[in-house]
Formats: sequence, C-alpha cells, structure tokens
Amino acid sequence: MRKSLHISSTATFVFIIVIISRTLCVCCHPHHLQIQTLNNPSTGNSFCPLRLPNHMQRMASSNKALVEYLWSSGVIGSTKVAEVMGAIDRALFVPSGTPAYVDSPMPIGYNATISAPHMHAMCLDLLEKHLQPGMHALDVGSGTGYLTACFAAMVGPKGRVVGVEHIPELAAQSIKNIEKSEVAPLLKEGVLSIHVGDGRLGYPDCAPYDAIHVGAAAPKIPQQLLDQLKPGGRLVIPVGNIAQDLKVVDKGLDGSISVRRETSVRYVPLTSREAQLQGY
Ligand SMILES: C[S@@+](CC[C@H](N)C(=O)[O-])C[C@H]1O[C@@H](n2cnc3c(N)ncnc32)[C@H](O)[C@@H]1O
Repeated sequence: MRKSLHISSTATFVFIIVIISRTLCVCCHPHHLQIQTLNNPSTGNSFCPLRLPNHMQRMASSNKALVEYLWSSGVIGSTKVAEVMGAIDRALFVPSGTPAYVDSPMPIGYNATISAPHMHAMCLDLLEKHLQPGMHALDVGSGTGYLTACFAAMVGPKGRVVGVEHIPELAAQSIKNIEKSEVAPLLKEGVLSIHVGDGRLGYPDCAPYDAIHVGAAAPKIPQQLLDQLKPGGRLVIPVGNIAQDLKVVDKGLDGSISVRRETSVRYVPLTSREAQLQGY
C-alpha cells in the first residue's frame, strides 16, 4: 500500500514537472507534445490536458536506459552520439529533485529549461561531422552545460569548446555540473570554457568555429554567428517566435551560405537578459 502510494506520488510529481515545462514554452520537438486541446482548438489557450505518449509517461531508470530508448526509437542515429550521451549523465545537469531521465525539457530556473534529450540527440547528430576530434565548437545559450559537455567529449583534448550563457547564475551552476562529469579534465585543461555574455554576438575570441549550436530561438539568424562560422562549418539554430523551425546553416568552402529547415521545434527565446528575467 505504502509502495503504491509512493509510486503514484512520484508519477504525479513527474507529470506536474512535465506540464510546467511544457507550459513554459520549452526546448523540444512539438510532435513529442501530443497536446489535445479540449475547449478551444483554434487558439489552444484553454485548459490543455496532455495526452502523453508512452515514452514520456515512463521515466527511464538510468542514463543508459534513456540513451537506449533514444537509440531504439531512432532519435539517435550515430554510435558516437550514443556513446557520448551515455558517458555524460543527464542527472548531473538537472536541478536536484528534478527527474533526469524523462524525454522532456525541465525547468532550471530564470525562465530557462534544459532541453529535452531528443533535441540534444538531434542536434548532436546534425553536428557530428563538425565535432570531430580537434575541431572547434560554440554553444550559445549553454544553460546547464549538458550539450557543451557533449561537444567537448566529441572534439576531445585537441579541440576547443566555448559555451556562452547570459544568466551568470546558470553559467556558474553549469561549471559545477561539468566539474562532476566525464569531461571535467577538459574544463580544467581549458579545452572547454563557459562565458557569461550575450550569445547573439557569438564569442569572437575563439572563432572561427566548425560547429555552432544555439539553444534558444532567434527571430532571425544573427549575422555575427554566420561571420564566426568556419568555411565548411555548420550552424544549428531554432528560428522563429511562436512558430519555430530548427535551421541547419552550412557555410561552403567559398563562404556561400545555404539554409535548410530540419523540423518544427519549440524553444525559449534568444533574447536579452532583462527580457528573460521579466518572463519575456
Ligand atoms: C533551452 S535553454 C538551455 C539549453 C541548453 N542546451 C541546455 O539544455 O541546458 C536556453 C538557454 O539560452 C539562454 N539564453 C537566452 N538568450 C540568450 C542570449 N542572448 N545569450 C546567451 N544565452 C541566452 C537562456 O538563459 C537559457 O539558459
């Protein structure tokens, strides 16, 4: 009896966290939302009970189980990405008390979220060829530092990875998170660094980059990020306001830019610190 009460309160807690993170407008692929609006389908403003797909109702029991789920459902398509996500334990990056192994974004404070595991996996897959050993990467809106840590694991000790986050408290916490992870030695050696700043400006000191990832939705692709992309490099960025697309931007060896749409997404905005702290 006690056990079943415990299980149902854990399930309720996870359900509430998932609903809060959804309501916050967070970093996920909307097809994973499966929202069924009962009263007002045209605006979606009325009470929206979530019909969660099976994978989100269950919490994986470990990081390994979460990665196996992402692999078996086809979200991860590369053994290297599976290896890296298996090595960087998501539990080290979520606030204490937050369920780590649910395929859902989670609130991290300051009106921000850690992105859903399927988005982390998708972005790592898209950037894999540009995160080879020795390459340089920039993670804009690095938040918890989870993806920045994955980038460091991909490029290794001869590479360089920079995270830029504009909320100082999140940047400080991300450094603590990384210090507990597999890539702590890379942080110590200076291969990986986190900086407080406006990521819309990129981080020119370590440019150009083979890979740039943006973890928040920009109204348009910032020119500074294009300028800091190496010829042959790739930028992955969510673009849009309410309707957002994940864009894959490739810079040719001749400097030409090509942009394609990968999928629809829902991210927090890439904005000013003031706007974010005021709730956008
Ligand atoms: C979805 S969240 C975190 C994403 C990160 N990949 C993760 O999973 O932890 C997006 C982050 O972008 C940050 N952000 C928003 N606008 C920014 C800006 N102009 N410069 C730097 N960071 C920004 C937010 O503070 C937030 O931490």
